[in-house]
Amino acid sequence: MPCKNPERPSLNSHLFHAETETEVRHLLNDIARAGKYIHYALQTSDTGLAGSQNTSGEEQLKLDVISNNIVEEELCESHLVYAYASEEKGAIEPLRDGAPFFVAFDPLDGSSLVDANLSIGSIFGIYRGDPMGKTPREQVAALYLVYGPRTILVYSTGKGVHAFYLNDVGEFLLLEKDLTIGDTVKTYAPGNLRAVTDTPAYRKVMESWLDEGITLRYSGGMVPDIHHILIKGGGIFTNIGGNKYPQGKLRLLYECGPFAYIVEQAGGGSSNGERSILDITITELDQRTPIIIGSKKEVNRVAKVLKP
Ligand code: AHG
Ligand code: MN
Ligand code: MN
Repeated sequence: MPCKNPERPSLNSHLFHAETETEVRHLLNDIARAGKYIHYALQTSDTGLAGSQNTSGEEQLKLDVISNNIVEEELCESHLVYAYASEEKGAIEPLRDGAPFFVAFDPLDGSSLVDANLSIGSIFGIYRGDPMGKTPREQVAALYLVYGPRTILVYSTGKGVHAFYLNDVGEFLLLEKDLTIGDTVKTYAPGNLRAVTDTPAYRKVMESWLDEGITLRYSGGMVPDIHHILIKGGGIFTNIGGNKYPQGKLRLLYECGPFAYIVEQAGGGSSNGERSILDITITELDQRTPIIIGSKKEVNRVAKVLKP
C-alpha cells in the first residue's frame, strides 16, 4: 500500500517533497538538530555571564558559548561544511577540507533578553564556498529558529518560506507553508531608536508611524520581531545608524543577510537605504548595515524619507 502524505509533514519530508538538493536537505536537518539542542539548553542551563567577550566587545553569556558549541558540533557531524563564521567568534573557523558549504550564523540572537524570559532566536545563512566578495542573494538557503512559548523554525531555499514547530518528541512539523508579506502595515518595530537624537530623518520616520496610529510591536529581539511580520503577513522593522552605531547594530552576514533572503522570498522588501540588503557585497565578517525590512512599499517609503 502506498504511503499517504501526512497532513503535517516533518521538516525532512517537506524538504524531500520540495525536491531540495540532497546535501542541502541534510544540512538543514543538521542545523534543525542544533536548534533542538539549543532549545533544551535554554530550559536547563545557567543564564549567567560567561566572563568572556565576543569580537565586538559584547559580554558573552554562558548560553551564547554553549549555543555556538552546539552548532559547531552539528556542522562537524554533517560533513558538509568546510568552515563557518559566527557572531560569537572573530574569525573563519575551518571544519572539514573539501566540504561544499560555508555557514554564517548568530547562535543566540537577543541573548540579553534571556533572563527576562523573552523570546530569542538563532539565525543561519548558507553559502556554497567563500561568502567574501559575494552578496546575501547568493545564499543557498537561510533559516532561523525562534525560541518562545513554542520553538519554531522558518526556512527558505528560494522556493517560498515555510514554518515548522517543534513537537514534544523533538520533531519539526509543518506549521504553515508559503508565508507571504503584503503591503498592509499595521505594526512597526523601530530598533536602535536612540539614533533619533542624531539622525533627524529617523525621528521623521518614527513620527510618521505615530501619526498613522499603527501599533508598536518591538521586543528587542530581531528574530521574534521579524517573525511577527512574517506570521501576520505585514509590518516594518528598522535598525538605523546614529552616532553610537553609525551603521546600525546589526550584522550583514549573521543577521541581516539571512532575514533579507527570507523576507524577500515571502514577497517583502529589504533595504540599507540605498539598495536591497541582498545586493550588498560582503567584505568583512563583522560588517554592519542599516536595515529597513518588511512590507515592500513601506520599506521603499522609509528608505526615501531617510535619504540624506
Ligand atoms: P545580540 O543579542 O545578538 O547581540 O543582538 C541583539 C540585537 C537584535 O536582536 C535586536 O534587534 C537589537 O539587538 C536591538 O537593538 P536596540 O536595543 O538597540 O533596539
Ligand atoms: Mn545578534
Ligand atoms: Mn548573538
